[in-house]
Amino acid sequence: MAVSRNLLLFSASLLFFIVSPSFQASFRPKALVLPVSKDASTNQYVTQIKQRTPLVPIKLTLDLGAESLWVDCEQNYVSSTYKPARCNSAQCNLARSKSCGSCFDAPKPGCNNNTCSLFPANTVKNLATIGEIAQDVVAVQSTDGKSSGKVVSASKFLFICGSAILFDGLPSGVTGMAGLGRSKISMPSQFSAAFSFPRKFAICLGSSNGVLFFGDGPYSFLALNIDISKSLIYTPLILNPVSTAPASFSGDPSSDYFIGVTGISINEKPVALNKTLLSINKEGHGGTKISTVAPYTVLQTSIYRAVVRAFTKELPKAFRVRAVAPFGACFNSTGIGFSRVGPGVPLIDLNLPNKVVWRIFGFNSMVRVKADVLCLGFVDGGLEPTTSIVIGGHQLEDNLVQFDLAASRVGFSSSLLFRQTTCANFNFTSAA
Ligand SMILES: *[C@@H]1O[C@H](CO)[C@@H](O)[C@H](O)[C@H]1NC(C)=O
Ligand SMILES: *[C@@H]1O[C@H](CO)[C@@H](O)[C@H](O)[C@H]1NC(C)=O
Ligand SMILES: *[C@@H]1O[C@H](CO)[C@@H](O)[C@H](O)[C@H]1NC(C)=O
Ligand SMILES: *[C@@H]1O[C@H](CO)[C@@H](O)[C@H](O)[C@H]1NC(C)=O
Repeated sequence: MAVSRNLLLFSASLLFFIVSPSFQASFRPKALVLPVSKDASTNQYVTQIKQRTPLVPIKLTLDLGAESLWVDCEQNYVSSTYKPARCNSAQCNLARSKSCGSCFDAPKPGCNNNTCSLFPANTVKNLATIGEIAQDVVAVQSTDGKSSGKVVSASKFLFICGSAILFDGLPSGVTGMAGLGRSKISMPSQFSAAFSFPRKFAICLGSSNGVLFFGDGPYSFLALNIDISKSLIYTPLILNPVSTAPASFSGDPSSDYFIGVTGISINEKPVALNKTLLSINKEGHGGTKISTVAPYTVLQTSIYRAVVRAFTKELPKAFRVRAVAPFGACFNSTGIGFSRVGPGVPLIDLNLPNKVVWRIFGFNSMVRVKADVLCLGFVDGGLEPTTSIVIGGHQLEDNLVQFDLAASRVGFSSSLLFRQTTCANFNFTSAA
């Protein structure tokens, strides 16, 4: 772990109180909306917010499981409303920070005395540093769920100061990551507190454009006049009591979103798996989480091999062609038919409690690597990954997935392609 500044660490006050950061807003939005685009060179999902006074656009890679927003404070951070979080303040408690630090440099954003810190992380490269917690103005567009509307701002939005040492592997122009995780200071939690709307948010990723909603539905898309939030299938969220972040304070729970996959079926035939890997053990290892940082679903080696074997068995032998990295099973697409939901390949079901199924169709299971070659879009995560199944971006595209923090559940839409729309079809209108 790299450390960007000198810190004096001592244990935090043991007082924990429930606090909501106070915000000011003239107009109370019911929900907020952010555009999301996929960066073709890194396969990351990128969004943009405005921050500071005066407001400047900030590009951020989406990080579904990260505990908060972090942005680079080292370069060009100019703002008259930047305020570091002082040790033992309500902000530090809300952030569960256990460190209080000093900075032996000229005071500036990211470098102040008597401030608490957290660990901004680049989860693409598994890098983390330590950075000052601060607050500043954040502005985003509101929405009625059908189109984007008036810009609203939250005046005391908490974030962590990161630095350029965390930029490795991020798309050019990106200067931070948008943490949407299971924590009190994640972007969804703060927006819900700021504007008093339900603690829900939804991601709808696309192969080029998509959308992120904070708050409850309606979530409506062009070419379709129905509210997708009304037809979601739900499964409980599972709390992993051990942090899965690149750096954390000991005792912190994970801010990642875990769901209870109990098995995988291919063409409705169960694949034999080591069930121990599907549950979360005392060290926080195992289980299934959802990630926007993994471009493709990552499976522990034994699960990966069993899935590839079962999937391949369901297709004619003659279709198999030489694999193209990082994939292990590729097929000649000439003989494979197509439907609205992509190539007609074996169905992959993630089985969830209470007979709920997350069904993956060809559009989400296959990746076209050449004009006539399609590969199974899952990758081998090695023998001992922290998490056994990481559902990645390609498998989420054109599916709307809602996270209901209050009810501790995830709702998913299945492929929007069935309903003749896509995540790219949200009606973004220019900011008022
Ligand atoms: C923090 O306090 C130390 C010791 O008093 C001082 O040398 C340093 O300049 C201060 N740093 C900032 C950023 O104010
Ligand atoms: C998109 O939203 C704008 C603003 O609400 C509205 O005027 C326009 O008709 C909408 N476009 C479509 C195709 O529904
Ligand atoms: C199943 O996975 C667990 C956890 O990795 C491992 O300890 C156990 O040996 C595995 N069982 C079999 C039969 O491979
Ligand atoms: C796929 O099959 C077609 C028709 O049989 C053949 O012409 C083509 O060369 C094959 N492509 C690969 C990559 O094997």
